[in-house]
Amino acid sequence: MIDLKSPDEVSRMRSACTAAARVLQDLAGLVVPGVSTAGLDAAARGLMARHGCESACHGYVVGRLTYPGYICISLNDEVVHGIGAPDRIVREGDLVSLDVVVRRDGYIGDNARTVMVGKVAPEARQLCIDTEQALHAGIASIRPGSRVGDLSAAIQAALAPGGYGIVRDFVGHGVGRKMHEEPQIPNYGKAGTGPKLLPGMALAIEPMVNLGSHKIVMAADGWTARTADGKVSAHFEHTVLVTETGVEILTVP
Ligand code: MF3
Ligand code: CO
Repeated sequence: MIDLKSPDEVSRMRSACTAAARVLQDLAGLVVPGVSTAGLDAAARGLMARHGCESACHGYVVGRLTYPGYICISLNDEVVHGIGAPDRIVREGDLVSLDVVVRRDGYIGDNARTVMVGKVAPEARQLCIDTEQALHAGIASIRPGSRVGDLSAAIQAALAPGGYGIVRDFVGHGVGRKMHEEPQIPNYGKAGTGPKLLPGMALAIEPMVNLGSHKIVMAADGWTARTADGKVSAHFEHTVLVTETGVEILTVP
């Protein structure tokens, strides 16, 4: 069952998503050479307080693990769910993926982007550009009655010319009171398949794309996913609302 948000829930989602987008926007401006990922995590905590929301990641439980950070910060070959650390220093040329998930008034806003630090390698830059463009191609596929498979296929098609590895072990998701609701939204798939999208559905769409192989490995911390081949990865995410006429991006500052 995919939840349909009532008008009151949509207004709470809107407010949570605006806050999530503002935190991400402000934080992206702090990604400069010399800053530690723990410093960025602490800054995110402060920005959430300033924007009237709280971290939905901090204390998030999966199995026997509890997430210790306030946001996820994934450097270079880290794909998602990296944890800020004082000895991880951002350098010129790095890709820094910031994933900001907040709760406000009982509802979640979820967004992510990969920030390029200064001059990055041309193929890494193109990966970021193409991943963000694939996110928007996926969003543009949405209309009332279109299917999850249409969205997945649109993302996959946008990435095909680049010959990238599309991550399979993590997917986008419905979002609302909980961070992860139905449906799952893979970043590859077949048009015309999967659940129908209807007005009132809120979706977090998040392509995670590797320069090399799609394969990932999990770090010993149980959270950090990195590429198996050590090549860089990019991640862009918006929370969107399916409307009567199409789709609206909610994570806009
Ligand atoms: N956007 C990520 C996701 O949807 C955020 C995870 S927060 C964590 O999975 F606590 F699970 F790390
Ligand atoms: Co998400």
